[in-house]
Amino acid sequence: MDDFKNLLRKLSEAFGPPGFEDEVRDIVVEEMKPYVDELFVDRWGNVFGVKRGRTDYRVMVAAHMDEIGLMVDYVDKNGFLRVKPMGGWNEVTLVGQRVVVRTKDGRKIKGVVGSRPPHVTPPGKEREAPEMKDLFVDIGVSSAEEAEKLGVGVGSVAVLDREFAELAGGAVTGKAFDDRAGLAAMLYALRLIDESPVTIYAVATVQEEIGLRGAAVAAERVNPHAAIALDTTIAADMPGVSEREYVARLGAGPAVKVMDGGRGGLFVAHPKLRDFLVDIARREGIPYQLEVLYGGTTDAMAIAFRREGIPAVTISIPARYVHSPVEVLKLEDAVGASKLLASALRNMTPQFVESLLERKLK
Ligand code: CO
Ligand code: ZN
Repeated sequence: MDDFKNLLRKLSEAFGPPGFEDEVRDIVVEEMKPYVDELFVDRWGNVFGVKRGRTDYRVMVAAHMDEIGLMVDYVDKNGFLRVKPMGGWNEVTLVGQRVVVRTKDGRKIKGVVGSRPPHVTPPGKEREAPEMKDLFVDIGVSSAEEAEKLGVGVGSVAVLDREFAELAGGAVTGKAFDDRAGLAAMLYALRLIDESPVTIYAVATVQEEIGLRGAAVAAERVNPHAAIALDTTIAADMPGVSEREYVARLGAGPAVKVMDGGRGGLFVAHPKLRDFLVDIARREGIPYQLEVLYGGTTDAMAIAFRREGIPAVTISIPARYVHSPVEVLKLEDAVGASKLLASALRNMTPQFVESLLERKLK
């Protein structure tokens, strides 16, 4: 559990908005190396770790390296950075936060998302939620020129500045658990697998938060026979939310995806793969929950509809306050996800994979 916790801490604190995953990638490469037979990075920055199995059936596992971020689109004359969202922010959680801004030469400097003090807020406006267009990042400079000299300007990117911390009850909190927790679970699973019937392509993907970009490219390349994504899901088991809307609960084990998506279209996890994961969880005594998420999806959606169609499913780690600086999860859920993945891969026979492919005519 400590091994896992330290891995999650390191990944969570790394800087990696969509398209700028370099720092996370370096950790992934280092962590994967001892446990795979082949390691390469494609032109968009996806990392592939190949672990040869007893057959050439290819199973792709995907977890994304990026976290939601901010893209500077304007610097005003007083040196305040104005930003566009990279991924789905809730602006309320951004106000009052520290952020890390990447300079042109790759240094990291600090900034804050400022807000109007109550003393100068017109009556009646105190409770108004801010919009992204009104937010600004203050890096301490007094002019656009001064920002430019530091290497900060249009095209600079930023993420939350937040340290990992432990709470009571085996819970931890931090930023970017979406999806560094999934990434940690994937990396940790590689350590748990000595041998497998199938060849495993563990892929750490880029640019998930802005449209599942890296996974789509990676799936074209691997052309897997089956795929499992690892990501966080919504645990809305908190005050003010009715039980039906919880999606998943903290501490009830990893969630096996049934369906997700939303306005952009739905994704139904491959029923046989879903049932396979449930059987494995039961057999191994890993607590699990079934998950229907309306309003979000994972790399599995992008992988599933490549090539001739790829049977795909997601193993999710329930997390509260996703896409905020205080994401919370239980280590036991994340380690459970890792064990479920490892066991699924160890037990995926060629016969089972074959049964997922062409459907027999009656
Ligand atoms: Co996300
Ligand atoms: Zn995610």
